[in-house]
Amino acid sequence: MNNTDSLIIVGAQWGDEGKGKVIDYLAAGADVVARFQGGDNAGHTVVYGANIFKLHHIPSGILYPGCISLLGSGMVVNPLVLLEELAELEKRGITTANLKISEKAHLIMAYHQVYDRGNEELLGDNKIGTTGRGIGPAYADKALRRGLRAIDLADIDVFRERLAQVLPVQNRLLEYAYGHEGYDLEQLVEMYRPAAEKLAPMVVDTSRLLTDKLAGGKKVLFEGAQGALLDIDHGTYPFVTSSSTVAAAAGTGSGLGPQCATRVLGVMKAYTTRVGEGPFPTEEKGEAGVLLRDQGAEYGTTTGRPRRCGWFDAVIARYAARINGLTGLAITKLDVLSGLETLNLAVAYECGGYKTPHFPSSMTDLQQCNPVYETLPGWDEDISRARAMAELPEAARQYLEALEETIGVAIELVSVGPDRTQTIVRPRTFLSHWCGD
Ligand code: IMP
Repeated sequence: MNNTDSLIIVGAQWGDEGKGKVIDYLAAGADVVARFQGGDNAGHTVVYGANIFKLHHIPSGILYPGCISLLGSGMVVNPLVLLEELAELEKRGITTANLKISEKAHLIMAYHQVYDRGNEELLGDNKIGTTGRGIGPAYADKALRRGLRAIDLADIDVFRERLAQVLPVQNRLLEYAYGHEGYDLEQLVEMYRPAAEKLAPMVVDTSRLLTDKLAGGKKVLFEGAQGALLDIDHGTYPFVTSSSTVAAAAGTGSGLGPQCATRVLGVMKAYTTRVGEGPFPTEEKGEAGVLLRDQGAEYGTTTGRPRRCGWFDAVIARYAARINGLTGLAITKLDVLSGLETLNLAVAYECGGYKTPHFPSSMTDLQQCNPVYETLPGWDEDISRARAMAELPEAARQYLEALEETIGVAIELVSVGPDRTQTIVRPRTFLSHWCGD
């Protein structure tokens, strides 16, 4: 099914690009928002008036009562965390009746978090810097064919049966590798019973649901979490997450073919940030980095960790455009750059005496790469009230043009503040059409 009205949105840096805000904005025009990978390692902050929502599993679409929010088969779901998220939304008057969970989504179990933290401890100085949510071990168990799925949780007797099959192995590993006393079957069943009762009616065949919606001409927004450079295959391995974060995963992670959407929007911050360990060529450890962190409030939504900050890296942006097949760009947090006298833009890397516009596959090479910067003029004006490109200062427009030119993909949306209203959508683009222009 070739769906020209649907859209995949992915992070095109190391995550935290401000996808939550962009997806929240575009969800107003969507019938379904479907997540297709990752779990509660993701953190979306959505600001709506005086309300701030911090979501982990649940797509931003949940804030629109007419929109279906869907957790796809490519996700790993922590039922206990999801239960808390639902309770928080319901407490604030948001209906969660439209949340659907794929039968095939895998479960993050309590022991996965023990493995995650234990692995990090054992790795010591070589740790990945994970969110500690149990993401890697849950995907590893899926690949080892000893995972539990949402469909198992929907029937507590099946859940007990599946758990009884895998728990002896898990307990042995917990004890031998991590010095953990292990889990009792009945205690675990009781721990998950409230989640099973609450979530069971939401567990459905989401592939069929999506197929029906697409066939009926409905608009589906596929929401990616994390970012291109955290992709398990194409990211800065091993400093990556454990799922496919690129656009092609929208199909496999939703139970659809690769034609499920023809448009791919890459979200990029106007500068670069990263949490956790791993190479980051444009990282600024000095004054500029501190300024970006302070002005951009760069602290992790999930872990609260300060994010590493640096200049915009067009080498990774071009790479992200290629591996995702980006058809448009959304540039976020442009307002954060106000007040900087000049802006550095990395257009290439200098590696071992030669200059390259390409992102290397070898992490050893990447560690030795230095960015080649172009310097552009900054601007002083507060741009948070701009609602059209023409309302931006000349230097801000020049900066955006430089990004477009070096990446080779058109900018369709610019965000100039956290609120829904602080958004510029370029006229006569796919996104302006999406928004009803
Ligand atoms: P994990 O996904 O918890 O296994 O963490 C692996 C790497 O991905 C670490 O560097 C995390 O900081 C990073 N990561 C995971 N989720 C996010 C996210 O939503 N935003 C930014 N970084 C993330």
